[in-house]
Amino acid sequence: MQIIHTISELRTALKQQPKIGFVPTMGNLHAGHIHLVEIAKQNASCVVVSIFVNPLQFGANEDFGSYPRTLEADCEKLKAAGADIVFAPNVSEMYPQVTENKSNGKNLNQSMTITPPPIASELCGASRPGHFAGVATVVMKLFNMVQPQIAVFGKKDFQQLFIIKEMVKQFNLPIQIIAGETMREASGLAMSSRNGYLNEAQRTQSAQLNAALQHIAQQLKNGHQDFTSLEKTAAQQLNQNHWEVDYISIRSANTLQPAQAGDKQLVVLGAAKISNNLGGKTRLIDNLEVHI
Ligand code: PAF
Repeated sequence: MQIIHTISELRTALKQQPKIGFVPTMGNLHAGHIHLVEIAKQNASCVVVSIFVNPLQFGANEDFGSYPRTLEADCEKLKAAGADIVFAPNVSEMYPQVTENKSNGKNLNQSMTITPPPIASELCGASRPGHFAGVATVVMKLFNMVQPQIAVFGKKDFQQLFIIKEMVKQFNLPIQIIAGETMREASGLAMSSRNGYLNEAQRTQSAQLNAALQHIAQQLKNGHQDFTSLEKTAAQQLNQNHWEVDYISIRSANTLQPAQAGDKQLVVLGAAKISNNLGGKTRLIDNLEVHI
């Protein structure tokens, strides 16, 4: 497995590759990421995994500074999983126009960005303005660098997956997007790099988010169609159990628009904050697809 830090080395390494499979990540890899690598391996002859904590997708008060950076351990896991190339660029490789700013760190000067579709301002986008523009822009850059035939994204970030699929469609990119299922702890907790911010007790509590979504899914399967009341009840119960709910929302899985009576392919999405080890709050997201 090659570990590459520059775009020119990456292009040289990929020149003769007939079918490139790509898994973009921000590192701190867990079984969920490895599952995506396995899918890429089944669908391509050369698997590239990028590891880049993208400053453009973090808000000013978010965890960009503390996001876990574990390159060495990540590379060991990727080697064991059979990845061919790890692409781990630094910020100036990804954003060559970056400048240092004495008072508040770096200014990326990325004046051209991808404008995501309006759905990007709902759900996670409502409390993370600019997040999906940052994601779409870095993914477009990575697609241009890696030029994969297929790319694998996890369903855990359902809204992100939706926006990337839309970007590929609207920009006519010759890339097949494959969705990987969410990997979960035995408790139901969706695997996430941010789970590392939680101690054992907080991890136990964090399974309540998935339990709340499971409960809604069951109600939907039982024929309940009062979506607003299902959403409100779940949010109230979590808030009473020391969560700070951002949203619980029942949507059409195909359009991500609010569910309508009679919709058969639904997705129940949730985002909520839980107290963490560091004396702050960790924002967790999860979703469940429900076919009725
Ligand atoms: O899902 C992630 O880890 C990130 O949003 C991605 C797709 C690697 C872009 O930075």
